[in-house]
Amino acid sequence: MAEFITGMKRTDYCGTLTAKDIGREVTVNGWVRKTRNLGSLLFVDLRDRSGIVQLVFDQETHESLFDKAEGLHQEYVLSAKGIVRARSAEAVNPRMKTGEVEIAVNDMRVLNSAETPPFQIDDKANVSDVLRLKYRYLDLRRPSMSRYLMMRHRIVKEAHDYYDKNGFIEVETPSLCKSTPEGARDYLVPSRVHPGKFYALPQSPQLFKQLLMCAGFDRYMQIAKCYRDEDLRADRQPEFTQIDLEMSFVDADDVMTINEGFIKQLFKNVLDIDVPTPFIRMKYQEAMSRFGSDKPDIRFGLELKDITEFAKTCSFKVFSETAQSGGAVRLICAPAGHYSRKEIDGLTEFIKTHGGSGMAWIALSESGVRSSLGKVLTEEEIGEIIKLADAKNGDLICIVCGKSGPVYTALGGLRCYLGDKLGLIPKDKFAFLWVVDFPQFEYSEEEGRYVAMHHPFTMPKTEDIPKIEAGDLSDVKADAYDIVLNGYELGGGSIRIHDSALQQLMFKALGFSEEDAKTRFGFLLEAFKYGTPPHGGMAYGLDRLVMLMTGSDNIRDVIAFPKVQNASDLMTGAPDFVDDKQLSELYIACTEREKAEDQ
Ligand code: AMO
Repeated sequence: MAEFITGMKRTDYCGTLTAKDIGREVTVNGWVRKTRNLGSLLFVDLRDRSGIVQLVFDQETHESLFDKAEGLHQEYVLSAKGIVRARSAEAVNPRMKTGEVEIAVNDMRVLNSAETPPFQIDDKANVSDVLRLKYRYLDLRRPSMSRYLMMRHRIVKEAHDYYDKNGFIEVETPSLCKSTPEGARDYLVPSRVHPGKFYALPQSPQLFKQLLMCAGFDRYMQIAKCYRDEDLRADRQPEFTQIDLEMSFVDADDVMTINEGFIKQLFKNVLDIDVPTPFIRMKYQEAMSRFGSDKPDIRFGLELKDITEFAKTCSFKVFSETAQSGGAVRLICAPAGHYSRKEIDGLTEFIKTHGGSGMAWIALSESGVRSSLGKVLTEEEIGEIIKLADAKNGDLICIVCGKSGPVYTALGGLRCYLGDKLGLIPKDKFAFLWVVDFPQFEYSEEEGRYVAMHHPFTMPKTEDIPKIEAGDLSDVKADAYDIVLNGYELGGGSIRIHDSALQQLMFKALGFSEEDAKTRFGFLLEAFKYGTPPHGGMAYGLDRLVMLMTGSDNIRDVIAFPKVQNASDLMTGAPDFVDDKQLSELYIACTEREKAEDQ
């Protein structure tokens, strides 16, 4: 039978006790991490969210308590009272925060027993992700997980404090919304009251925050849950959280400056790190051509070089034809190493799985030059490439040719892969930058039309508006900015269109008929009639921010109850079938249900 806590309430968290507490009588509550019975002394490591402290039960002084402690097992829940004392010199554990002290227990209650857990609850234990997520509440008892969630709490608190101090007010926006196209696929919620109609869960509070500006709130922020039915990756979840904000009567500079202030304060208060501001502002085109990415990791070099001009007239047809027909030939020069043939083949494979069609290479060594281009380029031409690459002995030049986009993707990926493999990335550094001057539109091969690169409410650069009017969407820049940290897109935003005519022009450019635009966004266009101020804002991916600040490499680690790759929750079993009655109330018949149940 479990005992009760009355009269044995906690005075201190386990992980907070230090030499300063020696001599105090304390009561701690927590879970048994492990026990060690040394005959007449029994040690228990007791864990709570703050850390671990050692309890000592002494048979000589407290015999019945000692006997009781002998019945303790992993994950039993205790309340223990005792005197904090110094550990003997040989028992001091410098790796533990509480390693200098222990509690000599003089009273103890077993608040609950526990079955043997399905895995060892310990940071060092090697446990499969499936098991961790199925028993997430046990996984969250691990000190590292607890640290992640504590830091998440601190970050959210800092966000509230900073934006509050700067005049932002938090306003909640709905979760049951109208489905608006663009971006990812919506999660839909059927309406019982309106047969055949659906709500959509918000992909972001974008339109609501713009309407709050129209309402005159001037500065808004929200810790907002967002839902996107898209393919998951290590930095993506179907439901995630944004630090979302919007400001009126501002330009892009104002939004960036206020957010640099946030990052500065956040990193100082949470990690005690001084982040220099202002951040570099790099044009999208520069980010692509130097780093092959619109979210460049600028903690290391290994930049791309463009040899398209050279390629146009070289004797290798694949290069010259690509270069002459508007394609690109680019390279990166990996620093001195011993690149075996097997390693080079591995890099070629990498390029192929990252959108490139293949990789040509030149390896420089004491004994001479080896190259996959030996038979198709002259020695002089290879020498020319070496010069353009600024390559030295030991270096490996990796060359990719093709359409510009895939070449960037492949080499940008290779750059990060090599940077990591060659140890070029200073892991303890936080390198922020803004990427600005994004294209307003990008061509979607899949849809055969231009789509908005950010979203359709983004303001184009004023000087490019005539191009949209003339129907030329190929080179229109947006007044948009992304905040990038260590190769991750941490957040993004823009100045918005606040003019009804321009918004309608944008919808038209994106292929919405007038009728379509009215049905889907009529409420926004209507609002624009009644005096909408100029406004802009941005949103951070909170989960990504926490992931980077904790040093984790998977977004799941910093979300209490995350989903797995196929968007299911291994603990609760969501999504799941529902009763026929529930479905019929919603006027829904599932065509695939029987098939799915059979699987
Ligand atoms: P955007 O779509 O760029 O902009 O999202 C902003 C930031 O949210 C994070 N993010 C995600 N994090 C985890 N899982 C996902 N599936 C996911 N998708 C996005 C990223 C991203 O930078 N309304 C606009 C913002 C604005 O213009 O104000 C928006 O949502 O860190």
